[in-house]
Amino acid sequence: HLACPMSALPRGGPPRSVQEVWEDFSLSFTPAVREVVEFARHIPGFQGLTQQDQVTLLKAGTFEVLMVRFASLFDVRERSLRFLSGATYSLPELQAMGMGELLSSMFDFSEKLASLNLSQEELGIFTALVLVSADRSGMENASLVEQLQETLIRALRSLILKNSPNDISRFTKLLLRLPDLRTLNSMHSEKLLSFRVDT
Ligand code: HEM
Repeated sequence: HLACPMSALPRGGPPRSVQEVWEDFSLSFTPAVREVVEFARHIPGFQGLTQQDQVTLLKAGTFEVLMVRFASLFDVRERSLRFLSGATYSLPELQAMGMGELLSSMFDFSEKLASLNLSQEELGIFTALVLVSADRSGMENASLVEQLQETLIRALRSLILKNSPNDISRFTKLLLRLPDLRTLNSMHSEKLLSFRVDT
């Protein structure tokens, strides 16, 4: 069985083939991935990027967007993780599934993000920034992407300064979550790759 919270099927039940496990898993995460594509289409300026750059950013950044969107699956206080299936597992149970360093890094990330108490509007712009800040290798028109990124950073800064004028560190703390996401992305990719190789 698949030890990723994006899995919507409860664990257990009759043993299934690798293909079946992967097919069920695809059905669970595909709607979430579609939502990211839909979200991107609504970022002002995103559709002005070249088609290929839109695809490159989505490929590189979808996981990071999903990480932000599903950070609340990590219950920091209870030290438990809820899967899309609704099943909740305690830390020892997760460790028994073989989860380790990546899991604890994701708990840390979720805790830091939650401590910023972002409003829906702040979260929306931040999420757009996450996508547009994705790994840029092989951009067709990098300067257009950079312009869009700068516009989003300015919008986020002025919104955050307006909402919390007495806490100038809030914006900086939020920007520091971008490199965290990059790290989680590459750690998670390794899990994904080894799953594909092992099975
Ligand atoms: C592990 C796929 C998104 C959290 C894994 C594994 C795969 C996978 C194949 C390895 C499972 C195993 O070895 O049994 C995917 C795909 C995603 C996705 C295809 C998106 C389309 C996410 C997101 C999160 C997440 C958004 C967090 C909110 C985890 C965790 C693990 C994991 C915590 C286990 C890490 C560990 O072993 O320490 N994922 N995942 N995944 N994934 Fe995902």
